[in-house]
Amino acid sequence: MTRHFLTLLDLDRQELAYVLQRAQTLKSMHQQGTEYQPFKGKVLAMIFEKASTRTRVSFEAGMAHFGGHAIFLSPRDTQLGRGEPIEDSARVISRMCDVIMIRTYQHSNVERFAAASRVPVINALTDSYHPCQLLADLQTFQEHRGALAGKTFAWIGDGNNMCSSYIHAAHQCDFQLKIACPYGFEPDPALLQRFSDHVELVNSAEDAARDAHMVATDVWTSMGQENETSIRKRRFSAYQITPRLMDLADPDALFMHCLPAHRGEEVSEDMLDDSRSVVWDEAENRLHAQKALMEFLLLGAIGQST
Ligand code: CP
Ligand code: NVA
Repeated sequence: MTRHFLTLLDLDRQELAYVLQRAQTLKSMHQQGTEYQPFKGKVLAMIFEKASTRTRVSFEAGMAHFGGHAIFLSPRDTQLGRGEPIEDSARVISRMCDVIMIRTYQHSNVERFAAASRVPVINALTDSYHPCQLLADLQTFQEHRGALAGKTFAWIGDGNNMCSSYIHAAHQCDFQLKIACPYGFEPDPALLQRFSDHVELVNSAEDAARDAHMVATDVWTSMGQENETSIRKRRFSAYQITPRLMDLADPDALFMHCLPAHRGEEVSEDMLDDSRSVVWDEAENRLHAQKALMEFLLLGAIGQST
């Protein structure tokens, strides 16, 4: 059966734990200079309908490390941008490539693409979810602080695609998630209700940060929402993450941001350089986590019978 990764729920809890642990193993192997090329002759198609730095570089570098190849495709110079149906594109690309990652707008686009694809499809960000970033965030927390289960995380800012993936992560990894958003910018109520065992909406950034083991945020204006930038700056002004806000959190708390960051907006000028910030490790772990994900989707769990 072809396995896709459109949200974090596409892996069961055991599989997710395996991928996170494998990501750390692949990171050590990479740091030690171990050559490991299980993807010789394999091709990743990367479809980007939105901009990217980390996602593109991490997938492309990951394929190079694994001995495979990556093809960058954008709607500007493929038939995708001229109205070729998603399903037809999926049928054709999946006959030529071994795995496909897509960054697009509507989540239904990746669902439709996956339904017509012969090979694994990975969601590299939609308006609704960003599960690859969560793999890196979860790996980073474990790397610095150990077990996720039983911890309390804070999401402060927009109830956006990252927030929705954090809700999935809370359920999958058994931590509590406190979410603070301005009125009108909360995550999907259906998600809050479905995962209410692990997720709670609170009234202020301070209420979310208090005693949290990890505080995360993201830009106030996501890709595709640029015309709302000025209203969002006003509505989100009480949701900036600062070292002072972090002082309310657990003394061992970490700070994460998927990046790119806007200093002076969702983070103060000094937040990314604070000793509690692990944003550069978090960014690097995109590489290792996605290598583990692609290996799992194509080759299954290494050294385990699943
Ligand atoms: N965090 C993230 O997905 O970054 P890019 O938009 O640069 O890929
Ligand atoms: N929420 C942001 C994440 C960027 C990586 C966006 O969708 O633009």
